[in-house]
Amino acid sequence: MSESITIALSKGRILEETLPLLAEAGIEPVDDIEKTRKLVFPTTDERVRLLIIRATDVPTYVQYGGADLGVTGKDVLMEHGGAGLYEPLDLNIARCKLMTAGPKEGGAPQGRLRVATKFVDLARQHYASQGRQADIIKLYGAMELAPILGLADEIVDIVDTGNTLRANGLEPRELISYISTRLIANRASMKMKHRDIHPIIEKMGAAVAASA
Ligand code: ADP
Ligand code: PRP
Ligand code: MG
Repeated sequence: MSESITIALSKGRILEETLPLLAEAGIEPVDDIEKTRKLVFPTTDERVRLLIIRATDVPTYVQYGGADLGVTGKDVLMEHGGAGLYEPLDLNIARCKLMTAGPKEGGAPQGRLRVATKFVDLARQHYASQGRQADIIKLYGAMELAPILGLADEIVDIVDTGNTLRANGLEPRELISYISTRLIANRASMKMKHRDIHPIIEKMGAAVAASA
């Protein structure tokens, strides 16, 4: 007998690009996801339901088995640490870079480096790997403001076009990692529900390959 499958999707900028890949696996939300306050969505595959939640919560839901599969950014996965998760597929969407950045005319800071970011662990690891001591200041968005307002010497953030950095007088400095969106799976689900999950991964993988 088939088991039911729960897939956690990130709301925000990657949702729109995720839906066509899922559709190739025969999974489409039945309701208009834009128009309801519901968080759980039945799909055209009666065994599959979707959760639409914050990108940063996706690894947590999948880790604890609240969802069997999930879709989120590699940046979010690296910061989460990946415990209890498989990462069977690179969906190759929302490609960007995780970088350090600072003011264009920024000289060397006096004393310890102050770094503003929402990627606290990744930032700590990055500076530690260079033997640089850094005080990390946690923010939840608009990191580019921090150097302007004197909160920090550098930021660690996502860079795509570089427009946000430029518009705020900042320049990219060091590349920490290339980023794209990944399909993740709960380790236990991958074993117990293999028969149902495997075809979804296969079909999404074929859709990714076809769009490359
Ligand atoms: P959040 O509210 O957490 O920033 P977003 O929807 O903006 O969520 O971003 C989701 C994911 O998309 C990020 O984790 C990252 O992998 C990727 N991403 C973020 N910003 C950009 C960008 N400017 N260009 C391309 N991909 C991005
Ligand atoms: C993301 C990221 C940067 C910007 C980079 O912000 O945090 O600020 O995009 O893209 P660019 O290099 O093409 O300018 P987002 O728009 O997701 O806003 P957020 O702070 O709400 O996450
Ligand atoms: Mg964002």
